[in-house]
Amino acid sequence: MKILMTGGAGYIGSHTLVELLNENHEITVVDNLSNSKIESIKRVKVITGKDLIFKQIDLCDINGLEKVFQEKSYEAVIHFAGLKAVGESVQKPLLYYYNNITGTINLCRMMTKYDVKNIVFSSSATVYGNPVSVPITEDFPINTVNPYGTTKYIIEMILKDIQIADQSWNVLVLRYFNPVGAHESGLIGEDPNGIPNNLMPYISQVAVGRLPYLNIYGNDYPTKDGTGIRDYIHVVDLAKGHLKALDKLPKKPGYCIYNLGTGKGYSVYDMVNTFEKWSQCKIPYKIVGRRDGDIAECYADPGKANRELGWEAKLNLDDMCRDTWNWQNSNPNGYPD
Ligand code: NAD
Ligand code: WQD
Repeated sequence: MKILMTGGAGYIGSHTLVELLNENHEITVVDNLSNSKIESIKRVKVITGKDLIFKQIDLCDINGLEKVFQEKSYEAVIHFAGLKAVGESVQKPLLYYYNNITGTINLCRMMTKYDVKNIVFSSSATVYGNPVSVPITEDFPINTVNPYGTTKYIIEMILKDIQIADQSWNVLVLRYFNPVGAHESGLIGEDPNGIPNNLMPYISQVAVGRLPYLNIYGNDYPTKDGTGIRDYIHVVDLAKGHLKALDKLPKKPGYCIYNLGTGKGYSVYDMVNTFEKWSQCKIPYKIVGRRDGDIAECYADPGKANRELGWEAKLNLDDMCRDTWNWQNSNPNGYPD
């Protein structure tokens, strides 16, 4: 399939590129490299031995984007591009609303103009906020608690309304839980800018000696060991979910939402212990106060994706920690500049 991928130089995009190129899809990537490096694309080419077209363009630059649509025709868009740091979104809400929503509106305008009516969109479990119970199904109430999460929900609504107005559109919304891990080659992985916000990159940077210790945000949650429980999913499983979503398009699914998670919850201590096992490094930690906006427990019911897309996560927590360590240990400072 001829695919336009936005945000393809990023963490999830680069892993999805590998899976798509391995299946011989023809890809054009658009990324402004605001949170990624071109090295990830180079390494995707090394892993797969395949080529792709890369355009350094900001989705907010509609003229630049239009050229990408003029140059080539596409059958589907996979839309990863967006800013994703929860804390930063609270500090800089306008940046998040502008970048994520304007970028998506520009993309959809171009898709309409050039008659590309299939889109797979990266949403997030963050749209559920603090769920009333677990596991979470797709019909749970939406309750966003920060501007980042609100951008995801607004984009879901924009895409839904576009599909209602023109039913020849197919919109597959994928709500990811907590992506972790890296490609088994260790050539690509998560390379956050500055100090990581998320648990797994923080642990791996402690293991490799870039950070002195982990702060555990609260050990007094009503969970099995007092620390927060999340549904960590291997990024390669997540990437494969996008291929399954593309397979669904010929069936003209209309507008559909799918949780992509494993359905299993692990605590912060589970993550630390399993990471220590694979890295053979001690992860020193301090218990500190709860982080604003954090919830006790969050994990998916991934049954709908299994039934309707034929997808399920195959890799386990050992695979996630082994592959994260392999990436971090081989690239202690992430991608070179
Ligand atoms: P990432 O930051 O590694 O990748 C996003 C990419 O989009 C980056 O390469 C960045 O340079 C690019 N980008 C951002 N704004 C752009 C713009 N205006 N124009 C062009 N390119 C732009 O993030 P990721 O972890 O790979 O996440 C991919 C998508 O999945 C994002 O939409 C994110 O919100 C969503 N998501 C991520 C997680 C997670 O924990 N990683 C969880 C749920 C959902
Ligand atoms: C996991 C657990 C923390 C860091 C975030 C976004 C969400 C989605 C995925 C994009 C929690 C604890 C963390 C640390 C810790 N992203 N923790 N010390 O908060 O579930 O989800 O990433 O869509 O929108 O909110 O993930 O990895 O930050 O935290 O103790 O240094 O680890 O309290 O229990 P979270 P996380």
